[in-house]
Amino acid sequence: MTLIARIAAVPDRGAIIVELERNGARLSLILTRAGDKIAAFRNKCPHAGYPLQRADGRVLLQEGRYMVCGAHGASFSLTDGACAGGPCNGDGLERVAIDVRDGEILLV
Ligand code: FES
Repeated sequence: MTLIARIAAVPDRGAIIVELERNGARLSLILTRAGDKIAAFRNKCPHAGYPLQRADGRVLLQEGRYMVCGAHGASFSLTDGACAGGPCNGDGLERVAIDVRDGEILLV
C-alpha cells in the first residue's frame, strides 16, 4: 500500500488534491473528509475530463457538502462523488479504493 496523506492534512468538510506516481504513471487524486468519513476519487471530471481544482490549486466547496468543478461548474457529493448538479449529467467521480489506519490514508 502507498501512503497518500495523513488524515490531518485533509480539512473537515473539505477536499485536497494529491499527486502521486504509481507504477511509473502519474495519478491525481481528490481526498475528501466529512467528519470521520474519508474518500478518494480520481481527479478527473466526468464532464470533459478536466481536473476539479481551480487555477490556485484549490477545490471549490459548496455548503460543506459539494465539490464544484473549476472548469464548468459541475458539482459532486463530498462523500460519494455522485453528480449533484451541472453538466456532469448524472455521472459521478470515479472512486479510488483506500484504507485508513493510524491517522494515515493509504492507496490499496
Ligand atoms: S470538466 Fe468539469 S464541469 Fe466541465
